[in-house]
Amino acid sequence: MSDRGAAIVLIGFMGSGKSSVGRELAVRTGLPRYDTDEMISARYGLPIAEIFAQHGEAAFRAAETDALGQVPRRQLILVTGGGIVLREENVRALREFGLLVNLTADEETLFERATRRKARPLLQTANPQATLSELFRIRQPLYEAAADLTIDTSALRHSEVADRVLQEVAETQRHVG
Ligand code: S3P
Repeated sequence: MSDRGAAIVLIGFMGSGKSSVGRELAVRTGLPRYDTDEMISARYGLPIAEIFAQHGEAAFRAAETDALGQVPRRQLILVTGGGIVLREENVRALREFGLLVNLTADEETLFERATRRKARPLLQTANPQATLSELFRIRQPLYEAAADLTIDTSALRHSEVADRVLQEVAETQRHVG
């Protein structure tokens, strides 16, 4: 018997489309959506970049693990921050929620998306592109190891990524059921 839940969990690097695809999935499925960044931001009453600036990354990472503890164990869409896989305990918790979908893209696309709107504190460096490359190199194996499936979103719209995720979920359920 599997102890995996029925949630769809989105993991992956900054700019891979987790937030947008998560919203799309919530609309399509009617399931509630939880987003760890939003939960942490609400808890502090601050944007993520301000939490990093005022409280430091360690406090953010602790809040990230706490946030996972606040998510109900039920069928839902769970969107995570790009650093969630850095703690093994987080990955264990995520696997209990359900299917882990790793969204990825080529580095150029990730960089373009990650620097477009939302302020990413980890990319506030002298050479953000080099920082992104280095983080991606370190983290990509962690996402791959944690994930049940990976979707390359480089050439896809959010709605197309959502289509793929839902196809894969249906496939998985067929195999399990
Ligand atoms: C982070 C990614 C961000 C946010 C924080 C740290 C990371 O979320 O959690 O800035 O370590 O990669 P997104 O992946 O939604 O950008």
